[in-house]
Amino acid sequence: MLTESSLLFNTQISPSYWHARLCASAAFVREAAPGRFVMLRVNDTTDPLLRRPFAIFDADDDASGAPVFEILYRVVGKATTILSAKKEGDVLDVLGPLGKGFDLGAPAGEHLLVGGGVGLAPLYALAKKLRAASSTVLLFAGGRRRDDILCAEAFASLGVECHFATEDGSIGERALVTEPLTRYLESQGAKAAIYACGPEGMLRAVAQIAARRAIPCQVSLESRMACGVGVCLGCVVAGRRTAPQTPDFRCVCSEGPVFDANEIDWEGA
Ligand SMILES: Cc1cc2nc3c(=O)[nH]c(=O)nc-3n(C[C@H](O)[C@H](O)[C@H](O)COP(=O)(O)OP(=O)(O)OC[C@H]3O[C@@H](n4cnc5c(N)ncnc54)[C@H](O)[C@@H]3O)c2cc1C
Ligand code: FES
Repeated sequence: MLTESSLLFNTQISPSYWHARLCASAAFVREAAPGRFVMLRVNDTTDPLLRRPFAIFDADDDASGAPVFEILYRVVGKATTILSAKKEGDVLDVLGPLGKGFDLGAPAGEHLLVGGGVGLAPLYALAKKLRAASSTVLLFAGGRRRDDILCAEAFASLGVECHFATEDGSIGERALVTEPLTRYLESQGAKAAIYACGPEGMLRAVAQIAARRAIPCQVSLESRMACGVGVCLGCVVAGRRTAPQTPDFRCVCSEGPVFDANEIDWEGA
């Protein structure tokens, strides 16, 4: 669905990251399954021409019962710089919710969420859904520095057990996030499912860790998007053929952004 949504807040939460809340409809909130995303147009001009994709961090009724949704974003270029200057009451053109989110049908057991930076955005929506069903959820959040570990308190307040790792050791252990994840998997006999979102190198490493242990693993991918609805094929990534006639690419916006990690050709991605 395409709507015009007012910004309710747009707040800088750390040097590079912003958190925004926008008005939504009840239908939007119903359809905003964890892992789905929106395409936002940040102004009325042709520069930038294309909408930009953002994961839905949360979609719910606010304290007054009005439907709203939230995004977390990092300022990296033109569209996100324009977005960061928007104020309460400004209107944005929103297309979504789009794409396929996380499959919540994994067998009962521990749900291990792995991410960092804005990769934590879809994982928060996922954690909220899983905790509402009283599932056990652990978060392994990593990044270069403290700044990349977003919304740690929000995860903790859901009842998520949080493990942090940063490259400079400014929060949690000084390590890549795959280290505490691997250690945890080695120390536990419990059934687990992994859900990851973050930089490609981290996703590849997490996919390898899961494959070695035959643990189900879903990854939320990022790629450059133009249309967001499966038309331009600008977002495709290399996939694994599941049968001789099936294509060896995956369309991230319409078939994903969440995929079973085994569906992706990590060498060609
Ligand atoms: C499904 C999906 C969900 C996303 N969710 C979020 C989110 O929740 N929060 C958030 O901050 N960002 C998210 N992104 C990335 C976000 O769309 C880009 O950061 C944004 O489009 C950048 O626009 P810009 O005009 O500011 O930067 P541009 O000028 O377009 O790009 C600036 C720099 O960022 C790089 N870049 C831009 N887009 C991508 C991308 N998709 N993948 C890798 N590198 C990129 C460019 O190569 C360039 O170096 C998501 C992307 C996808 C595909
Ligand atoms: S962005 Fe156009 S097909 Fe995916």
